[in-house]
Amino acid sequence: KAEPADGARGLRFTPVAPNTDDRVTVPAGYGQNVVVRWGDPILHGAPAFDSENQTAAAQAGQFGYNNDFLSLLPLRHEPHRQVLVANHEYTDEVLMFRGYDPENPTREQVEIAWAAHGLGVVVVQEEHRTGRLTAVTRHRLNRRLTATSEFELTGPAAGSALVRTSADPDGRTVLGTLNNCSGGTTPWGTTLHGEENINQYFANGSSATDKRYGVGTGASERKWERFDKRFDLKQEPNEVHRFGWVVELDPYDPESTPRKRTALGRFKHEAAQPRLTEDGRPVVYMGDDERFDYLYKFVSSKRMKKGSSRSAHEHNLTLLDEGTLYVAKFTGDSPAAEIDGAGKLPSDGEFDGSGVWIPLATAGPDGAVSHVPGMTAEEVYVFTRLAGDKVGATKMDRPEDVEPSPRSGRVYVALTNNSKRGTTGNAPADEANPRNVNKHGHVLELSEHWDDPSSDGFAWRLFLVAGDPSDPATYFAGFPKEKVSPISCPDNVAFDPHGNLWISTDGNQLGSHDGLFGVATRGERRGELKQFLTVPTGAETCGPLVQDRRVLVSVQHPGEVDGASVEKPASTWPDGPGRIVRPAVVSVWRTDGRDIGV
Ligand code: FEO
Ligand code: CA
Ligand code: CA
Ligand code: CA
Repeated sequence: KAEPADGARGLRFTPVAPNTDDRVTVPAGYGQNVVVRWGDPILHGAPAFDSENQTAAAQAGQFGYNNDFLSLLPLRHEPHRQVLVANHEYTDEVLMFRGYDPENPTREQVEIAWAAHGLGVVVVQEEHRTGRLTAVTRHRLNRRLTATSEFELTGPAAGSALVRTSADPDGRTVLGTLNNCSGGTTPWGTTLHGEENINQYFANGSSATDKRYGVGTGASERKWERFDKRFDLKQEPNEVHRFGWVVELDPYDPESTPRKRTALGRFKHEAAQPRLTEDGRPVVYMGDDERFDYLYKFVSSKRMKKGSSRSAHEHNLTLLDEGTLYVAKFTGDSPAAEIDGAGKLPSDGEFDGSGVWIPLATAGPDGAVSHVPGMTAEEVYVFTRLAGDKVGATKMDRPEDVEPSPRSGRVYVALTNNSKRGTTGNAPADEANPRNVNKHGHVLELSEHWDDPSSDGFAWRLFLVAGDPSDPATYFAGFPKEKVSPISCPDNVAFDPHGNLWISTDGNQLGSHDGLFGVATRGERRGELKQFLTVPTGAETCGPLVQDRRVLVSVQHPGEVDGASVEKPASTWPDGPGRIVRPAVVSVWRTDGRDIGV
């Protein structure tokens, strides 16, 4: 066990022990508060939350359900305030509504669910001298975008025949955003939001592409198709093509219409984190979270304009519409025979190798060109998974969040798990995904050639192979395993101001709750992983943000345990016994007012 003040700068805290407590557990000397929770009124006129009298109209002005990605943006001219942007990934009706009948949802319940999905913008106030944050209700920037708000399709697939519907014959205006998982914050002051498991909202899929995207052939789980025919693909086969994109939101302009950026491809977008090339062009790394799916990047052909002028801002809102979309192919440097599928290190001592970025399509001012034989550019953008299949991209163990280190330029990819790796009919272990039936996942570190984010080649190695450190099939960048915390199912990744990587988990397979971990990526302590917090029963840890004075996490789907309901709750977090469980955003800070982990 590490001593309290031991650790890399930024990680000097006593690790939290794995546990199954129905609370957020933080290190000794740290405090916490709930910043905002499902149902808290944030817009003018929204009522206080009343779990027994929910309405769609109320929910549309309240914080949404299942907060996932978080961004905090500066708010100039308003001291000690920041703009919090959150994703509301999905709804858990059985934990929201007393007496919910999954076979017969009511129209009101469905409309509440539509209003509880989407994005939330809420200004937050910092308390003097601590890291405590509280929501500023009714601020002019506060905003909710839901499953029925207007979004604009932009870029090479906008207007294509593949995205036209009877309600939108131009193929440019979509109602709603769905299943926003993680995301990113751009250097030009906007946020990006990945539409992930969009298949679950649609009924009666029939095409080969529906199948490749996981759309079922029968009724949907939530039965939304009974209340709006666009969710019935028998009636509106193209509606599903209008979801599965990266959304760009301008949180500083509450009147703006958010855009779905088709140049970044369509798949189960986990997240989208940009960085800039030396000449100022954004590069966005993106994972497709499905077993045996791919890692992508988009390289813009346009340079960001600096400054806060209106013309610079308008220019920057076009950066993600032109450029090239790539998919990754990984090659190991050890003989295939040395990859035993059980996690044994090959004889060169590392899971490592080289890789190439294979171009799929390029969008320019005069249209787009496909680089994939047999597919048009529009097909590459709308059916990006099929393009990856055709060019032989590497099938990965569920690529989740990707984060470039602002210090070293290295790129970290969370591969959460893959229970099917190496099973009958599925791809066997390879050097980049070295364990069959991979329960605990791994974290890959990628170095672009010449440290150029627009490079078409890279080197890679595994940084962590997750699990209980007493399990020989784990690896912590070579750091002594007796000194690290157990970790399972890495999902979101973020960097702190000191250059340490923070990892949140989803689906811990070690018998304890999910949590948040910090790990040094450089120097003598590289690989020293320490657990910073744990989340309540049934919850996943999301959206970590680590600022000097606070750590912010999304506690997503607390109480989501098989068989649980409003009547039979598995969790009563955060309000306690007798109260309905509510997903919420939590701020954690040092009670002595000093910076995190120093
Ligand atoms: Fe919504 Fe891939 O986690
Ligand atoms: Ca090797
Ligand atoms: Ca996730
Ligand atoms: Ca996940």
